[in-house]
Amino acid sequence: MNRIVTLDEFIIHQQKDFAHATGELTGLLRDIGVASKIVNREVNKAGLVNILGVEGSENSHGEQVQKLDMYAHDKLIECLKNSGEVCGVASEEEEGFIKIKSVGKKEAKYVVLFDPLDGSSNIDVNVSVGTIFSIFRRKSNSKKEVNIKDFLQKGVEQVASGYVVYGTSTILVYTTGQGVNGFTLDPSIGEFCLSHRDIKIPARGNYYSVNQGYYLKFDVEMRRYIDHCSDMNLRLRYIGSMVSDIHRILFQGGIFLYPNTRKFPKGKLRLLYECNPLAMIVEEAGGKAISAQLERILEMEPSELHQRCTIVIGSPDMVDELKEFIERYKPVSNGVHK
Ligand code: AHG
Ligand code: MN
Ligand code: MN
Repeated sequence: MNRIVTLDEFIIHQQKDFAHATGELTGLLRDIGVASKIVNREVNKAGLVNILGVEGSENSHGEQVQKLDMYAHDKLIECLKNSGEVCGVASEEEEGFIKIKSVGKKEAKYVVLFDPLDGSSNIDVNVSVGTIFSIFRRKSNSKKEVNIKDFLQKGVEQVASGYVVYGTSTILVYTTGQGVNGFTLDPSIGEFCLSHRDIKIPARGNYYSVNQGYYLKFDVEMRRYIDHCSDMNLRLRYIGSMVSDIHRILFQGGIFLYPNTRKFPKGKLRLLYECNPLAMIVEEAGGKAISAQLERILEMEPSELHQRCTIVIGSPDMVDELKEFIERYKPVSNGVHK
């Protein structure tokens, strides 16, 4: 039997590959691992206690907030505050960013942005949800307070990103730009153990993932591509939690789309909390991530914390193919196709 490698061992081992690594990012990643174990515990027992359901309040986007969203939000902030490596956090569940006071004399270098619970409409029905995180080095002077510019950085500046899926098993996948690795939580020892080393996304896959219920609300080029997927007998899979759909695509190949609709003309998903971190993972694994307007997600300039964007992400050949559909079928300004 191969020796088990825990997340902590792996992170520390990887740190040794960086000549100037100080261990701060290592500590931060470990703290995120701890936070996700706590969230996992609550997600798992959600069916047993009265923590399920809609909390009643609405978040800053007019969406119903569920209790576990806020629980995950609070736990992540608590763990990151205690870590000593983080000077600020921003969460999908809070309008503004949160400044974190330094612990002792230490000047914390990192800001973390996260979607505490992605796919929260699935909680009530026992379907996979997840946590998504994105880590940047602060831009501002470390002697001063963190400011909005520290958060509004392009995705290419991320130093690490990752996600946790609370599914049939709980798995944490992260990258620091040195490949993508996955760790499955072994509940018997309470440790994330290396289960998927150096993940590479297949060039193509048999799945496409889109809310096909919005078909008539999509632009013509998207509808043509979706018709093409159907003509090719691809299988439609759409969980309603992006992180779980991306997780499947990472291993089995495929494409995930959330284009602009009439309701969400700029797209629905958040650039900073969902699209950037997942784009970094997918690109690191050999995939691609662009907007429906053909910009690379990781090069998009954010102007606000809760910025939404359209996204096309997944297997490289499939994203390229969709790009061709967009170029071929997108109406030009006089309404005539190119
Ligand atoms: P969240 O639960 O964090 O609000 O995110 C839900 C997101 C994403 O995970 C999912 O793919 C998408 O919203 C589903 O939206 P539709 O119901 O509009 O398809
Ligand atoms: Mn989400
Ligand atoms: Mn969420």
